[in-house]
Amino acid sequence: MSTPLIAILAGDGIGPEVTAEARRVLEALDLDLAFEEAPVGGAAYRAHGHPLPPETLDLARRADAILFGAVGDPAFDALERAFRPEQAILGLRKELGTFANLRPAKIFAGLEDASTLKPEIARAIDLVIVRELNGDVYFGEKSRRTTAAGLREGHDLMRYDEDEVRRIARVGFETAAKRRGKLCSVDKANVLETSQLWRDVVIEVAGDYPQVELSHMYVDNAAMQLVRNPGAFDTIVTGNLFGDILSDQASMCVGSIGMLPSASLDAAGKGLYEPIHGSAPDIAGQGRANPCAAILSAAMLLRHSLNEAQAADRVEAAVAAALRTGVHTPDLGGDASTQAMGDAVLAAL
Ligand code: NAI
Ligand code: MG
Repeated sequence: MSTPLIAILAGDGIGPEVTAEARRVLEALDLDLAFEEAPVGGAAYRAHGHPLPPETLDLARRADAILFGAVGDPAFDALERAFRPEQAILGLRKELGTFANLRPAKIFAGLEDASTLKPEIARAIDLVIVRELNGDVYFGEKSRRTTAAGLREGHDLMRYDEDEVRRIARVGFETAAKRRGKLCSVDKANVLETSQLWRDVVIEVAGDYPQVELSHMYVDNAAMQLVRNPGAFDTIVTGNLFGDILSDQASMCVGSIGMLPSASLDAAGKGLYEPIHGSAPDIAGQGRANPCAAILSAAMLLRHSLNEAQAADRVEAAVAAALRTGVHTPDLGGDASTQAMGDAVLAAL
């Protein structure tokens, strides 16, 4: 096989800080890998006047896998939506067709105190959220108008078609089948038509996976159960909006949003890998960001896109070992810098 090309799209805010550590870890692995960088988000708007310039999209298409940092520089908040940094990640997901977002949440030894849950509850967390990434209210029609009565009104259309639900449902069942065999589909079928369709299709797909135990839960109840008894969840499959919210919630249960990686896969298994957090403008440029989510995203890249399961295991074990030595960034209650955390992972490797 030719040398795999990894696109490094670090973005803005803490994106470049955490991505640099993830890249150092990949480079330390003694694998034959090529890296190419391109600006995205606020960094790309500064350089090229667009958050997702054609050269960046081209690199993303050419690469075997993409390591993404974060975008969301608030300096550009006043721009019209098409030019805001966040459009870069939405555009990439859509252009690349990466519809399946896997977000594993597991507690690392020594982080029970960082969790907002009681240690005995936190310790049981080992779940994956499979979030649909190309549809839902994020990509439906949007509009603003003023009503006859002079009131300003906003619209976001929530939509899914059955094919979109079917393909993410399959990823959910496949994921559960490789884990503890339990799939919980989260929707709001008591209120939403999209959710009723979602539930119908998930039930149809279940026929192909008799070995997986399927359950359904309304999203409001799921939010509650996630803090009441998160150990009961194995695999959760849900839509774009609900998955976005539930995965941020799951992150606090395992200690910090700085711990959660993700993989976004297309139909052929090509992937974009990124921490679930954003650009964290409140701590950007201070060397305080936790790079573990970015490093663990690199491990997912090794596993899912490069078929390097052993290397992925090594990286995950190194993160666990580094955390056990007590090197913790401020979000975990420590005082280690971003780079010191990266150093500790490299040392453990
Ligand atoms: P955020 O995830 O950037 O930050 C939320 C809170 O978590 C902040 O207090 C931040 O300091 C903390 N945090 C996040 N990552 C951390 C890390 N690695 N280590 C330590 N602490 C960390 O979410 P927020 O503030 O809602 O959004 C900031 C910007 O990022 C917005 O413009 C938003 O649109 C964008 N965003 C981009 C995403 C992406 O690039 N995929 C995802 C989520 C948000
Ligand atoms: Mg989010």
